[in-house]
Amino acid sequence: MEKICMTEEVPERESRTYDTMKGTTIFITQKDGSFYAYQNVCPHLQTELEYLENQFLDQDREYIQCSTHGALFSVETGECISGPCLGDFLEKVKLEVHSDGGIYID
Ligand code: FES
Repeated sequence: MEKICMTEEVPERESRTYDTMKGTTIFITQKDGSFYAYQNVCPHLQTELEYLENQFLDQDREYIQCSTHGALFSVETGECISGPCLGDFLEKVKLEVHSDGGIYID
């Protein structure tokens, strides 16, 4: 597994982007104490999601938002619940939080 960061680097309802050893860019967010990771690719036009660094959430920090056309995605499932790619999913990255406080991906 690849260690991406420590849990304290991703506070509740914030998001952070990371480059992986596989050459992809992912982002991690925390909601209600759980961590979620996705590839930084919008299913609409395959673009990166964020406009400003580490800004993947909407104004209320309730959903993941694509900055290009404003699609909203569920933090928990990655499903687009509003916008041009309604019903499509962000590509989830399976993660594990280990006892050392690190967030790891496959
Ligand atoms: S590119 Fe993301 S909503 Fe259009």
